[in-house]
Amino acid sequence: MHQGIARVAVCFLAKFGLFYVFFAWVFSLVMTYVLVTYLTSDLTNKADNGNQPSSPSLPEDTDNVLFRNSPHLKLTSNLKHLHLPLGSSWNSTPHDDMKLMSYVHKYSILPSCDQTVFLNIFVTSAPRNFKQRSAIRKTWCSLNMTSVISVGQRIIPDHVTRCIFLIGRSMSYSIQNAVRSEAMQHHDILQGLYLDSYRNLTIKVLQGLIWSHRSCPSAYILKTDDDCFVNIPIVKLLLGQASRERNIYLGHVMGNEARRKVIRDPDSKWHVSASQFSSQYYPPYVSGFGYLLSWDLVEIITSIYRSINIIPIEDAYIGILLNSVGITPIHSDRFNVHSIQWHLCNLLYFVVIHKVTIESQALLSSQCVHSYLKCSIKNSHIFLWD
Ligand SMILES: *[C@@H]1O[C@H](CO)[C@@H](O)[C@H](O)[C@H]1NC(C)=O
Ligand SMILES: *[C@@H]1O[C@H](CO)[C@@H](O)[C@H](O)[C@H]1NC(C)=O
Repeated sequence: MHQGIARVAVCFLAKFGLFYVFFAWVFSLVMTYVLVTYLTSDLTNKADNGNQPSSPSLPEDTDNVLFRNSPHLKLTSNLKHLHLPLGSSWNSTPHDDMKLMSYVHKYSILPSCDQTVFLNIFVTSAPRNFKQRSAIRKTWCSLNMTSVISVGQRIIPDHVTRCIFLIGRSMSYSIQNAVRSEAMQHHDILQGLYLDSYRNLTIKVLQGLIWSHRSCPSAYILKTDDDCFVNIPIVKLLLGQASRERNIYLGHVMGNEARRKVIRDPDSKWHVSASQFSSQYYPPYVSGFGYLLSWDLVEIITSIYRSINIIPIEDAYIGILLNSVGITPIHSDRFNVHSIQWHLCNLLYFVVIHKVTIESQALLSSQCVHSYLKCSIKNSHIFLWD
């Protein structure tokens, strides 16, 4: 009799005891989630109201392994990273520089990369520049533009070209949210955890190159800004017929020594301290509004950047890295600093045009398509970069 009761009791415990343990476990998980969500949103609201978050501790390693090498868009949900205090000082010590350098591996949003890409176009952009990015997607980067199959009877090589927008973190919760939805819609945003600012531009570009090297290789990379126009069909024609495929570091070269003088005035936006870079002049380098790198140079940059002090002048820094391994930049007048009303057929010549307003992106794109149809390319010209 007692044995029977005991057996029933054991059976009951085995069945329902397990059930209750499981239930309690699920319940605690749910409660933890609710609590964390509540705390995070609380922090967010406070920061949005202009109050400083109470503990701005820097996550040392937020480089989430799961997100590495992922071919699809991934978002980190940890909004705590968005509320670090703004660094006000432009004077930095080598220690700060090393800490900053660790940000090249910290991503908040990754773009997709599911095709073999011939040319990755990295467009540096600020989180709030929604209109610039939208204009670029609809104009020079859109499929319709790049599906033009010939220019002046020359067939454009059928290579895959992609635009990836490089941006940093915004202090504003609403901007950050909008960037996330934009990324989910277009899959073309690479966002780091560093604060988006002019003095963090080097981190931005290095991050793009490192991501591409690790997860999205391409034969060439073209780096440009969101106030530029890129003539993709002409780039493809030129690259398709280039006499070399290696050692290409090309664009508008800052050759003039006066323009390469290192600025030491601590109040200047371009200030670089002697401890960051000791020479008085930068080596010749290509201006940042547009430069082309062949893949071998991307490999070199990503393998040596750790051994050379980072400086906040992004284009000069790329020049310093490549100069250290004996690569000299190639000048091309096709990278043009002036945006004026060009004669239609001149548009067959330009590769990158700087200082283009949002409104003129569409006009330039349609003019380009007209130039492909109406103007003829001199045979010798298309083989040359300048
Ligand atoms: C660059 O980003 C880091 C990391 O977010 C930040 O601490 C620093 O203040 C930023 N620098 C500037 C000059 O904005
Ligand atoms: C591309 O052009 C075609 C016809 O000119 C048009 O129907 C289509 O909507 C365009 N696609 C995009 C993405 O703009």
